[in-house]
Amino acid sequence: MRTAALIAATLATGAAACHHDFNVVARHTHRQRVEKRNDNWPPVLSEHETLLVNSFDNVSIDEWSHYYGYQNKLAGYGKEAAQWTADRWNENGFESHLKEYHAFLRYPVSASLHFTAADGTESEVKLREDVLEEDEVTGYNEISQQTWLAYSPSGQADAEYVYAGLGSKEDFQALVDQGVEIEGKVALIRYGGLFRGLKVKNAQDFGAVAAVLFLDPADDGEVTVANGFKPYPDGPARNPSSVQKGSTLFLSTQPGDPTTPGYPSHEGAPRADISHVISRIPSLPISYSAAEPLLQALDGNGVSGEAVNRTGWVGALDAGYYTGPAPGVELSLDVVARDSISPIHDVIGWINGTNPDETIVIGNHRDTWMVGGNGDPNSGSAVLVEFTKAFNKLRATGWQPKRNIVIASWDAEEWGMIGSTEWVEEHVNWLTETAVAYLNVDVAVSGPRPYVAATPELHTLAVDTLKKVIHPNFGGFNISLFDSWQETWGGEVAVLGSGSDYTSFVHRGISSLDAGSNQGATDPVWHYHSNYDTYNWMSKWGDPGFHVHAAQGQFLALLAYHLASDDILSIDTQNYAVELRAYYDDLVEYAEEHGADLDLSELDQAIELFKKSADEVKALEKLSVERGDELLQKVVNHKYRDFQRGFISQGGLPDREFYKHVVNAPGLDTGYGAVTFPGITEGVQYAENGNFELAQEWVGKTARGIVVAANILKT
Ligand SMILES: *[C@@H]1O[C@H](CO)[C@@H](O)[C@H](O)[C@H]1NC(C)=O
Ligand SMILES: *[C@@H]1O[C@H](CO)[C@@H](O)[C@H](O)[C@H]1NC(C)=O
Ligand SMILES: *[C@@H]1O[C@H](CO)[C@@H](O)[C@H](O)[C@H]1NC(C)=O
Ligand SMILES: *[C@@H]1O[C@H](CO)[C@@H](O)[C@H](O)[C@H]1NC(C)=O
Ligand SMILES: [Zn+2]
Repeated sequence: MRTAALIAATLATGAAACHHDFNVVARHTHRQRVEKRNDNWPPVLSEHETLLVNSFDNVSIDEWSHYYGYQNKLAGYGKEAAQWTADRWNENGFESHLKEYHAFLRYPVSASLHFTAADGTESEVKLREDVLEEDEVTGYNEISQQTWLAYSPSGQADAEYVYAGLGSKEDFQALVDQGVEIEGKVALIRYGGLFRGLKVKNAQDFGAVAAVLFLDPADDGEVTVANGFKPYPDGPARNPSSVQKGSTLFLSTQPGDPTTPGYPSHEGAPRADISHVISRIPSLPISYSAAEPLLQALDGNGVSGEAVNRTGWVGALDAGYYTGPAPGVELSLDVVARDSISPIHDVIGWINGTNPDETIVIGNHRDTWMVGGNGDPNSGSAVLVEFTKAFNKLRATGWQPKRNIVIASWDAEEWGMIGSTEWVEEHVNWLTETAVAYLNVDVAVSGPRPYVAATPELHTLAVDTLKKVIHPNFGGFNISLFDSWQETWGGEVAVLGSGSDYTSFVHRGISSLDAGSNQGATDPVWHYHSNYDTYNWMSKWGDPGFHVHAAQGQFLALLAYHLASDDILSIDTQNYAVELRAYYDDLVEYAEEHGADLDLSELDQAIELFKKSADEVKALEKLSVERGDELLQKVVNHKYRDFQRGFISQGGLPDREFYKHVVNAPGLDTGYGAVTFPGITEGVQYAENGNFELAQEWVGKTARGIVVAANILKT
């Protein structure tokens, strides 16, 4: 998964990984922005940094990308690519093995969709993506090349349909408010904004009998066929038959193997009921070319898109985006799926540090929805192989890390971060004792514009490191990744929501960062979760020459190097204090807007206490460095390693025990996008009849978490 949130970047409060996330309406934010001022040009690198950076070779990255681009890596089918990955890492000095779990997966057997027009004529709606002569992998006859939505149950529906915009709760409520009947209908829903599983959940909750999800070319920025661009494979626009596959697990309630909540899915593990995290109604994805006539058939029926007047409702297809239903105009859908508990395989690689009680973990998923997947996630997988090569060269000079470096190639991420969640659940005690940070890369490259999301104590390291890497994609101009990132995102490091494998680490109180490079509104359209996310697309359109891959690898390697080697960890808790204050100011405004009269003094005091502790530990850090006192440095480092554990709430957030972090979590209704102070904010958001008791209760719980974190830092 992972999102390309750039097209509406100015609107997004925070993009997530591996999932698309646009049309997110931002609220005003008090968060800080880094000014554009790259005073570090040309970047001056140390000897070790230079060695690492120079080790990234576009020719070998191309080779790794090519390998992954022709393997079936669908979860449960990807052991060969797992073993290949372990072999490469072993060759490069990372002691690597496969780690097996037995995960509940649901595979496609068959699917069909038929359309009945007003005059009673029936036609078949094309589900499959076109096979392209120019891109042979699109014609591979593997199970994964079908179009389906994972975890959709088997089922049939034969009914009139309504168009429900982006499928948010508010969108469905708008239909109800307009008197449009949803009960017993099929919901036709546009991709974008919230996570697709929540679209299906909302359809189900409002009484629809099935959901059909379509892509809209309005999401492709300026690079569209309507604007005169040729579609892939002849040009950079979206292929009209392209379909977005993906999981429909209710991700914001619980990721991981849904049948083993909170414990690893070993073979023979007890299996829990999953009805609260999996939809009961069947669903299917279709392309924009398949959707256009379905929308047109609703024109003039129900309420026009313009009159509905909701953000993201009207797209760029030649239709009025009417709600429908239209009398006698029906969709008939038939989905057959097969349940399975299948072995999945993480690859875990390892180098021991000299301090056994400090560990950094670097991970990327390997599984895909199609044979290709060269953006999602082969770009990350290729970079990680090259990363092991770079560290092998560094070790050949006699260098050894202070901290253990663990690298991971996760399986079944696409289904709901299963491989990483099960591994974290199995190793949670050891991680709680030793984990310093988790670095995630998923879609390392889907375009040229760098993207970073991180917990606030890693912002300083991330920004400093962006300044050290030369951006390859603007020949002739001397700019760093920092400059491109600053221009694209306005200097704001995104808040981690969910959508990729950092999720389980964040919610166990481990400092985390997610990095990659996305497509902007004028870049070639990346075919996210489509059979056209291929090696051929990547080498022709996404990253010809694989230089963006190399730059992303350099960024990741420098981050890992400093976290693994520096005497003092680059963990900036003073910046955490600054961010807490910004989230607080946002909350004050949000509560006011919603008429919630909360007493926030306990939270206010907790943030002050945290700031005081952060200042103290910084002073202690300075002292330890001045004195060259290694024991004192260790004390400081362990505070930096551990303080995040304080934010973890026993019992988790309301109605979602998995998500435990009191400062940031994916929005219950967004799935990808982050919510800050989630217990309080969502307590306000979902308050019924002006009852803000739960929100007030969470002011206390959140404040106590911040106090625990402050006390860990306290000197
Ligand atoms: C659409 O909604 C916006 C804001 O919600 C409002 O300002 C505007 O007047 C509405 N337009 C119509 C045509 O109702
Ligand atoms: C790391 O150290 C542990 C114990 O100290 C040892 O058992 C293990 O074999 C070492 N692993 C590597 C990859 O050197
Ligand atoms: C880019 O920087 C290098 C030195 O790092 C310099 O030699 C070169 O002239 C610069 N190019 C441009 C176009 O500014
Ligand atoms: C690697 O980069 C060089 C220099 O830009 C380029 O000529 C070459 O085509 C690239 N190789 C691959 C395999 O992309
Ligand atoms: Zn991904």
